[in-house]
Amino acid sequence: METKLLKAGDDILDEAAELLRSGGIAAIPTETVYGLAANAYNVEAVRSVFRAKGRPQDNPLILHISSIDMLKDIAVSIRPLALVLAENFWPGPLTMIFPRKPHVPAETCGGLDTAAVRMPRNAFTLALIEKCGFPIAAPSANTSGLPSPTSAVHVYDDMNGKIPLIIDGGECRYGVESTVVCFEDDETVRILRPGAVTPEMLREYCHVVIDSGVLEKLDSGAKVISPGMKYKHYSPSAEVYILKGSDGETANFIKTVNVNKAGFLGNGDEPLPHGVKRLRYGKTPEEQAENLFSSLREADAAGCTEVYVRMPQTEGMGLAVYNRLLRAAGFRVIDAGNCGGKDAL
Ligand code: TXA
Ligand code: MG
Repeated sequence: METKLLKAGDDILDEAAELLRSGGIAAIPTETVYGLAANAYNVEAVRSVFRAKGRPQDNPLILHISSIDMLKDIAVSIRPLALVLAENFWPGPLTMIFPRKPHVPAETCGGLDTAAVRMPRNAFTLALIEKCGFPIAAPSANTSGLPSPTSAVHVYDDMNGKIPLIIDGGECRYGVESTVVCFEDDETVRILRPGAVTPEMLREYCHVVIDSGVLEKLDSGAKVISPGMKYKHYSPSAEVYILKGSDGETANFIKTVNVNKAGFLGNGDEPLPHGVKRLRYGKTPEEQAENLFSSLREADAAGCTEVYVRMPQTEGMGLAVYNRLLRAAGFRVIDAGNCGGKDAL
């Protein structure tokens, strides 16, 4: 199949809407990461999305909406707190989980009796959903297991020949996927996946519980609320390691890395030995979120066999960065100050 690449704009809205209306799929830009879009109510279209990604069938998709009326068509009931959060964070990087109505296909929701819903902020994509008149199901537009795509080129690398259309809306603003929450009661949300809507931001409106799966490795066979938690994720081919420690400890550790090609995501000013390639990261959690996935992809493109990443802070957006990084690294954290260098590991 030929994959067309078109720039997002009013001139392609009709063509994109027609493709989705007729059961086709397309990659779309959002403010978090690129999504692989299908009519959420069309089972065949949704199956094509799972096929193109190689995604396990029990991992549900997020339904993207452009109005609260669309939410009412999906959810059996909507808590007042959900409306408060919608008012404050939609359109934006917050996904909320609701009991779903029977007409929402089980295939879209991975067989669960709930549906995850968000209203994205990207102007083109919002207009597209509105034009379609149905919710758009869209997982991240990467091959399952690889880092999520934050540019149209990343999507092209994974999906060329597998989907008919990629809509290029430029670089994604946040670079990590939306915050996913479910409701514990009328005053409490549980964060299942952290994102740009941080626990601190949510606490302005409600109690916040952070699910243990956000930072801990789940036992195999553990029962999870969000199936995405149990899969290996965001991983390049290179082996990823998280480096914990001060500037000095990290700099000393990285000097002992003597593989032919390693990648390093750090502050940007550490001296690096021959064979270690500096990859874009940043000092603030926002910069780190923006750069993480594209730098992991770049590590592979450069032929790195190992990638070392400085541990982010765990407050604010840092929690999202750390959550993705832990999965990319298979939970391998190296204590740079106390390990005696690479050879001693
Ligand atoms: O920012 C985002 O959320 C991006 C863009 C494209 O909107 N989408 C995205 O989708 O990250 P995906 O499919 O890669 O991740 C969806 C996550 C998965 O971890 C999935 O398990 C969880 O949301 N999820 C979806 N429906 C759920 C449900 N009904 N209950 C619990 N978790 C759900
Ligand atoms: Mg994903």
